[in-house]
Amino acid sequence: MSEKESVILVTGGAGYIGSHTVRMLAEQAGRRVVVLDNLVFGHREALISPGVELVEADMADARSVAEVFGRYQVDAVVHFAAFCYVGESVTEPLKYYQNNTAAPLTVLAAMRESGCDKFIFSSTCATYGDPVEVPMSESHPQNPINPYGRSKLMLEQILADCERAYGIRSVRLRYFNACGCSLDGRIGEDHDPETHLIPNVLRAVLGETGPMTVFGTDYPTPDGTCIRDYIHVEDLASAHVRALEYLEGGGATTACNLGTGKGASVREIIEAAERVTGKEVPVRYGERREGDPPELVANAAFARETLDWEAKIVDLDQIIGSAWAWMTGERKGHY
Ligand code: UFG
Repeated sequence: MSEKESVILVTGGAGYIGSHTVRMLAEQAGRRVVVLDNLVFGHREALISPGVELVEADMADARSVAEVFGRYQVDAVVHFAAFCYVGESVTEPLKYYQNNTAAPLTVLAAMRESGCDKFIFSSTCATYGDPVEVPMSESHPQNPINPYGRSKLMLEQILADCERAYGIRSVRLRYFNACGCSLDGRIGEDHDPETHLIPNVLRAVLGETGPMTVFGTDYPTPDGTCIRDYIHVEDLASAHVRALEYLEGGGATTACNLGTGKGASVREIIEAAERVTGKEVPVRYGERREGDPPELVANAAFARETLDWEAKIVDLDQIIGSAWAWMTGERKGHY
């Protein structure tokens, strides 16, 4: 019997952060990648690297998952597949617990069965809940304030149990605000519906949506709008590659914040978008959005020490420029 081919399995690899990571794994780290994605939110067209295989299936479908583990030797799982709308998670909590917490158990069971012991998890700063201190380190209390954050925290806890029982090691990567598009403009951010700030600002500039709404101008921040730590998607992708190498090198289970350590307000994002596009952003000022804390900024020191990783694309104009280039270029042809 021939030996099985070794692969990295990426769930949700056709999604926004997943597709950038798949591309980096395949094109820069030289890995053989198999993507498991049901294409509910993912885009087949976002898988542009030669040699990447797409298995179009839901991770909750044990038969499809078993098939992948039967066909390949899965060396590690990089897990992105999840729903990510905080507001929807409040009105449809079961949908979030099913997809974000329960469905990955199928993958973990297949890992246990096959002896695969490395799991990289797309977690979130939403697992911390309202900040008691800013910047937030990994030891910040985890008290999520919505089902989205809880659905991700539960999987973090399940992973801790799986390590104790089955020896599955994991890196839980707690993203702050993912943003931007690939620097060569070939793949990008395409959510439907779109709720995130930067694409909404740029779509307003393009006249696709009417004016964008600034949610609240009375926050206790210097200019009254919320502050977030915007971390470029290619930096997120490289952190996953580093996390994989860390586990392959025998690293112990850990959790790392992925942010720049620097906050930007909603007004600062709008100003940067005006510089980048050379156009005025049509804006209306509205009420606060429920559940938005005034300020979320990462203490990113631990990721630097542990993964030898830090954000490189930190200039707001470059970040927004990458999103603008994609929205006005490739997006039209690809999506
Ligand atoms: N905002 C606006 N107008 C908009 C969209 C956003 O003013 O049209 C403001 C928000 O109020 C917030 C900031 O811009 O202050 C950023 O909002 P995003 O919706 O872009 O992102 P969030 O900060 O809500 O991100 C959160 C968590 C992440 C989580 C993500 C899920 O911080 O951990 O939601 O999509 F992953």
